[in-house]
Amino acid sequence: LTVEWSSQDAVLDGFASYYEMELHQSAEALYDTVSALMDGNRAPVIDQLRIDAYELARVRKVVIIGCGTSYHAGLVGRYLVEHLARVPVEVDVASEYRYRDPILDADTLVIGISQSGESLETITALRDCQVNGARTIAITNVIGSQLSRVADGVLYTRAGPEISVASTKTHLAQIGALAMFAIYLGEIKGTLYPDEAKRRRQELAEMAPLIRTTVEREGIWRGVVEQYLLLDRFFFIGRNLLYPVAMEGALKMKELSYIAAEAYPAGELKHGPIAMLDEQAVVVALLGDDRLHDKMLSNLEEVRARGAKLIVVAPDGDQSADDLADAVLRVPPCLALHAPLLMVLPLQVLAGWMAKVRGLDLDKPRNLAKTVTVE
Ligand code: G6P
Repeated sequence: LTVEWSSQDAVLDGFASYYEMELHQSAEALYDTVSALMDGNRAPVIDQLRIDAYELARVRKVVIIGCGTSYHAGLVGRYLVEHLARVPVEVDVASEYRYRDPILDADTLVIGISQSGESLETITALRDCQVNGARTIAITNVIGSQLSRVADGVLYTRAGPEISVASTKTHLAQIGALAMFAIYLGEIKGTLYPDEAKRRRQELAEMAPLIRTTVEREGIWRGVVEQYLLLDRFFFIGRNLLYPVAMEGALKMKELSYIAAEAYPAGELKHGPIAMLDEQAVVVALLGDDRLHDKMLSNLEEVRARGAKLIVVAPDGDQSADDLADAVLRVPPCLALHAPLLMVLPLQVLAGWMAKVRGLDLDKPRNLAKTVTVE
């Protein structure tokens, strides 16, 4: 295995910030990650996993831990692993999991996700899990990082260097690695036939061109939401695997523009947060093309009735929310399972504009560090 990038690769390439440039590298990040985990015949390539098929067949519980954006990728991963491999998954932030006195055994597989591979909380939590008998895998973007050395096995993301403190492309690469793992586990567990596993790997790789064309819609999205960029109370809502995407959208907004942004599962809005909605609030809603579509629409009606501004992210062709929404940000349609890879893009872009409008540094937000090595 060789290191395929160095920090010298990270020239700005005409962009005003690394954040914007890296966001535009998302398609390559996903493609390079996914294609390195399969061969030309779409069979799995898992030479770094170092946990054999026999051991994986024994896994009865998967635990995913991480911090910040990596944690949110883990939350998407839960849906992928549970759906494709039918193995129960727990996800927690590393700094909480460690102190929960977790129940672990040799049939538990713990996946630690960290872009840098150096977040202390993720490393120490993973090490604790090992001491308690669990097998461990690292998903990291940095070859030879501490997390990669501590874990029993590794799945590398191949997003190239990420300079901006706030993650963009590595988030998509992490979801790609988790999806590839979920497919492989599904094959081993017998929930996916080999042909189906191959088809799913192919479908995942085919998300790359869609991601590229989606990012190119940046200018259109901006025209649609420009008038809301000076408001400063945002709520992000989604259901099912779009809920973690809402969480990531809110995190990006907080990290980059320092404004109050909260994420809720859309169904939970009525259990408290709806009391905060008024004309000064903006709700960004992720409308998926899935079995929860109509439930989501009734949540949007609740928002509308409170007078809040409503920005809906919806697939092309779905006009069901057009009458309710103040603005609609369109993304191409795709499989519901892959929607996080597209729907996160307008949210990353939105957070970047919010920061720009406020004259803030997109690459180095105040009080934040790219790598956090304290607890
Ligand atoms: C820091 C950054 C976050 C990042 C988190 C996890 O807090 O500000 O943007 O998501 O660390 O980093 P990691 O390298 O472990 O993925």
